[in-house]
Amino acid sequence: MSDYLIRLSSSKTASAMVRGLGLPVPLPQRLDRAEGPWTARPLEGEDVFIAAGEGAAMGAAIAAAAAAMGATAWLAGAGKDAPPGVRALDSARPPENARPIGLILDATGIETPAGLDALYDFFHPHVRGLAPCGRAIVVARPPGAASDPVTRAARRAIEGFVRSLGRELGRKGSTAQTVYVDAHTEERALPVLRFLLSRRSAYISGQPLHVTARIAAPPEARFERPLEGKRALVTGSARGIGAATARALAREGAHVWVMDRPEDLEAAQAVASEIGGSAFGCDITDPGAAARIREAVSAAGDGLDILVHNAGITRDKTLGNMDREKWDLVMAVNLNALIQVNEALRDLVRGHGRIVCLSSIGGISGNVGQTNYAASKAGVLGYVEALAETLAPEGVTVNAVAPGFIETRLTAAMPFGTREAARRLCNLSQGGVPSDIAEAIVFLASPGASGLTGGVLRVCGGNYIGA
Ligand code: NAI
Repeated sequence: MSDYLIRLSSSKTASAMVRGLGLPVPLPQRLDRAEGPWTARPLEGEDVFIAAGEGAAMGAAIAAAAAAMGATAWLAGAGKDAPPGVRALDSARPPENARPIGLILDATGIETPAGLDALYDFFHPHVRGLAPCGRAIVVARPPGAASDPVTRAARRAIEGFVRSLGRELGRKGSTAQTVYVDAHTEERALPVLRFLLSRRSAYISGQPLHVTARIAAPPEARFERPLEGKRALVTGSARGIGAATARALAREGAHVWVMDRPEDLEAAQAVASEIGGSAFGCDITDPGAAARIREAVSAAGDGLDILVHNAGITRDKTLGNMDREKWDLVMAVNLNALIQVNEALRDLVRGHGRIVCLSSIGGISGNVGQTNYAASKAGVLGYVEALAETLAPEGVTVNAVAPGFIETRLTAAMPFGTREAARRLCNLSQGGVPSDIAEAIVFLASPGASGLTGGVLRVCGGNYIGA
């Protein structure tokens, strides 16, 4: 289902007309999304402005990472010995004609409320110059790691700043995130920053990500064909988000099992043959499903590297009007079957493996008519949190992705009014597309995402719901 306001905003005449009428309708910015496979230098020709506050640990490393992406990295305070691609930023006299695609503040040194001035001092002079579909990122130490209340207050304040900045930037299709970096995990944060700076994170806004060292010895991060040689399984991948994910995983080098219900086998086969993967039909709620999936995957070789639990359904009704069948079905598909399939395949997932489970912002915020769906999707979050602890010693990460409003048949079935409200109530005033979720999953499945486990990545355009 296409978004008529995005179509309108793409036409200069139509958007001028709508703005001229003064209607209280936001005209969303068409998002700049990456196409094709990962490349080593996705920011070629772009500018990124970077500053490191007092006591900050990562400014030079961030600048080097931005330069390695092909950008000119303008770092406040950079000296003559700065590496290639890194130049000195003078905030009072920013480089002429530069419209930075990224503004990054290394706030790892902020430990007091007074230190928060660094947020104002860096972003205030540059924020208006941020290019459309740009990125504002603050790197900080996690509040929970500080026992001193004053330090924790200062660190926590950063998230409030970033969430508000994301709301302000959304009109222009730009986003803002906080990246919390545990001490001694700075190296692992760099691939995370790379993803957030790239056009593959277009629909992620206002999100805090937490980089830890819970997983031992990360393999070297690869930025081209990062999934070469990997074996992946995506449940419910005949269409929608699952199909987009299967395509994106294959594009980056993985062999993908495209799995869906037997009645959708033909559609699953079409996706599999397009991407050189394997298809099979299986209803994950069947009692023998977990064993059959295990058999199919094992028959074709050893182990799995990437397991994406995507199959999901809605059966909406307010609780008083919800018959038992709707409750049972949603719980069976979205939570019970996910757990059963995962338990059956878990020991197939190899070291440095990745498990990604689809949750939903409904599971975070709750939603009228979705007691069944929200319970199942919140259950997924609990499962992910605990499983991440269990699998950390094996070097396997487990994460949830919580989509906001994504344009698929699931959301096309919503009544018009609800659909419109759901689309517009986010920083970016529009719905996401399946590839937004797929790109987030590819990133979480990549070697460079070893610093992220046990968390939930919302891909929701900075949705106002449950934020
Ligand atoms: P979709 O309805 O387009 O695709 C879901 C796929 O799962 C279908 O191909 C379906 O046949 C398959 N499936 C359903 N029951 C199954 C079963 N018992 N066994 C095997 N396969 C089964 O849905 P969409 O939008 O692509 O959603 C994918 C995931 O993302 C779901 O878990 C959904 O809850 C979640 N999600 C989607 C959002 C959206 O806005 N589209 C928002 C939040 C979460």
